[in-house]
Amino acid sequence: MGKVMQRRLVRKLELETFLSHIDSHPFPKPNLEQYTIPTDVAATMLHMAAYTYDDVIDKTILDLGCGTGRLALGAAFLGARHVVGIDVDRDATKVAFENSVKTGLKEKVQWITGDIDALQGSFDTVLQNPPFGIQKRRADRKFVRKALESAKVIYSLHRHPERDRILLKKLKTQRAHIPLVTPSPFLEKFVEDHRGKIRAVHSMIMTVPHMFSFHCKKRHEFIVDLFVIEKK
Ligand SMILES: C[S@@+](CC[C@H](N)C(=O)[O-])C[C@H]1O[C@@H](n2cnc3c(N)ncnc32)[C@H](O)[C@@H]1O
Repeated sequence: MGKVMQRRLVRKLELETFLSHIDSHPFPKPNLEQYTIPTDVAATMLHMAAYTYDDVIDKTILDLGCGTGRLALGAAFLGARHVVGIDVDRDATKVAFENSVKTGLKEKVQWITGDIDALQGSFDTVLQNPPFGIQKRRADRKFVRKALESAKVIYSLHRHPERDRILLKKLKTQRAHIPLVTPSPFLEKFVEDHRGKIRAVHSMIMTVPHMFSFHCKKRHEFIVDLFVIEKK
């Protein structure tokens, strides 16, 4: 274990192909906002964390609300030293374990079924795609707080605060470009109140298929902000 470090640069397309083999949640529960992170968003997030900021390779990684393990297994694939994924839903961690067996990464990732509040330990990096708070307002805040307690650097996905048509158009026309945006002042304050500092916020398009009754379109497309946060 820990010796399987990737010494070569993994191309984003190869990473995306790897992530496409990680099965999604078979029957997602709306109250837990259990949609699986799309492969393109996960690949951008992981690639940036690994190669722009050097926060994955040979690091210890925590995936809070890991679902079926896309971010955790992507980090292991890129060469993380050890990865822990935690999710409150047993069905999710069962599929995550099966995904780790299928991809040959079983030894590198430990899965925990439980609430993130129960977790103890310190890690180099948190990678997380928390519930956006659509079902339960501000559900993402508890994840940011726990992440800041647990790691030095945090990569956290959040819904962009408003419907920004100009930004959406820009993201659609320049797919490969990941622009920097200004953080939401509410989340920025929350991060600072919990001894964090925002390093950067990058915007991306997220497209999820129709899954829940509150989705009215076939595909749901919106802007997400990837917060890169460090502990002060
Ligand atoms: C938006 S999904 C993301 C799943 C996965 N990280 C991904 O990106 O594919 C959020 C996940 O957080 C989990 N979750 C919600 N509340 C939780 C809690 N209090 N403790 C642990 N996991 C939780 C849900 O079960 C769900 O799997």
